[in-house]
Amino acid sequence: MEGQLEPRIDKILISEAEIQRRVGELAAEISRDYKGRTPTLVSILKGGIIVLTDLMRRLTVLHEIDFMSVSSYDSGTETTGVVRILADLSRNIEGKDVLIVEDIVDSGLTLDYIRHMLLARRPKSLKICTMLDKKARRQVEVPIDYIGFEIPNEFVIGYGLDYKEKYRNLPYVAILVPNE
Ligand code: PRP
Repeated sequence: MEGQLEPRIDKILISEAEIQRRVGELAAEISRDYKGRTPTLVSILKGGIIVLTDLMRRLTVLHEIDFMSVSSYDSGTETTGVVRILADLSRNIEGKDVLIVEDIVDSGLTLDYIRHMLLARRPKSLKICTMLDKKARRQVEVPIDYIGFEIPNEFVIGYGLDYKEKYRNLPYVAILVPNE
């Protein structure tokens, strides 16, 4: 049905309860690691906003947030290897403790590019947090400090992840049935 909210899903891979429990654990770990510091959480639009907003509300350390917009996929589900910067951070990160917060690391190409670009700006530290890690698809190794869940090589939607820009709002992660 046109405009229906629920996509055809094969199965729910990670439930809302599992995600929320893991977000709490990650927030506790990050709060411990950054005790006494004020990290800048950098969310990569658009998918990263859901985990950022969940995570930041559970942190017990002072922090700032900022955003970058990049495009790693032109369309469809395959990476092109081309990372385009659509919008840059609003503030200088020199001397700052920066924590990139992502929804998923797939080939690693996007994060590898962003990581090197941000390191050139001489932050005090740079760490990476991702809710989902699709390790089997990795083309370039990226050091990831905080991982929510390792997932299989399936096309997933929800919790920030889209199919044709839809379904980012789903509170769970689901495997999509290809029906087109
Ligand atoms: C997704 C995700 C990462 C990137 C990971 O973003 O949010 O930024 O792909 O893929 P990679 O490891 O293969 O580089 P996408 O380009 O789909 O944009 P979106 O967040 O706006 O959906």
